[in-house]
Amino acid sequence: MRKKITVVGAGNVGATTAQRIVDKRLADVVLIDILEGIQQGKGLDLLESGPVESYDCNIIGTNDYKDTANSDMVVITAGLARKPGMSRDDLLKTNFGIVKGVTEQVAKYSPQAMLIVVSNPLDAMVQTAFKVSGFPKNRVMGMAGILDSARMAAFIALELKVSVENISCFVLGGHGDTMVPLPRYSTVSGVPITELLPKEKIDAIVKRTQGGGAEIVSLLKSGSAYYAPSAAVVEMIEAIFYDKKKILPCAALLEGEYGINGLYVGVPVKLGANGVEEILQIKLTPEEDAALKKSAAAVKELVGIIGV
Ligand code: NAI
Ligand code: 2OP
Repeated sequence: MRKKITVVGAGNVGATTAQRIVDKRLADVVLIDILEGIQQGKGLDLLESGPVESYDCNIIGTNDYKDTANSDMVVITAGLARKPGMSRDDLLKTNFGIVKGVTEQVAKYSPQAMLIVVSNPLDAMVQTAFKVSGFPKNRVMGMAGILDSARMAAFIALELKVSVENISCFVLGGHGDTMVPLPRYSTVSGVPITELLPKEKIDAIVKRTQGGGAEIVSLLKSGSAYYAPSAAVVEMIEAIFYDKKKILPCAALLEGEYGINGLYVGVPVKLGANGVEEILQIKLTPEEDAALKKSAAAVKELVGIIGV
């Protein structure tokens, strides 16, 4: 039997995620939103793409959580997206209310599901979903580090004129201006970029990565990125459904790891059939460690405001 994935929010990230899921034949999809007709229309349009793309996945759009019942996976993209001049943190209070309400419904109808949260501000929203759902920590995670690392990898590939397939990057910390790109752990065919690029080029790549979301917002003007974010979500889904035990940077609940306690922050995790199966503790220099702690402090401040 095919798996079932609910995507909450049928906007840019949600609809693109749904498309990538069925293009890869990963699951039947339920697209749920509070709008009238949009999610039904997008669902039907995706269903009608099946005969051309040769997938048999069923896709529906709905307003009713009953249709989402017993999903194996729920991707939460509901909420406002950034507009020019807005930080991810500006979205805090509105998206907190949305993610809280959505999670209550999801937990009621799909008590065994894995939750991947995308809504911003990411780390605080995953913490919200974790607290509200009451699910174990391995089943609640956030997507951001894969996106930020992909942006860094794309910039390195452009600079060095090499295939993106040769590049592996790690960006840790909260998904905000304080995120921590790690050049020492970012490699081209196993060689750290610190051996391949001068410091000023690396600094520029780090800065562009940290501003990667805002760069897209400033170009789109009426929304934020969705192609790379949806690709990143689907990499997480594949790692879990295929039990790949893949090491990926994701927002996970830290309970003492990296000296951080009771907080969702982006770190390298092992993703497999049981979701977040392990948190990898890589060795950080004192500067990298201080940057991660600073980023965690920024997440803690937001979490404190919404009280989760
Ligand atoms: P969008 O505005 O295109 O779509 C959001 C959808 O959520 C809308 O269709 C809206 O009607 C729906 N929605 C609002 N309240 C809802 C509710 N209570 N229940 C169900 N649906 C509801 O926005 P987009 O571009 O899809 O982004 C979605 C979220 O993801 C934003 O918060 C954005 O900042 C975040 N994001 C996070 C990324 C990350 O790396 N974690 C990357 C890209 C976006
Ligand atoms: C991004 O990084 C807006 O968080 C979103 O593109």
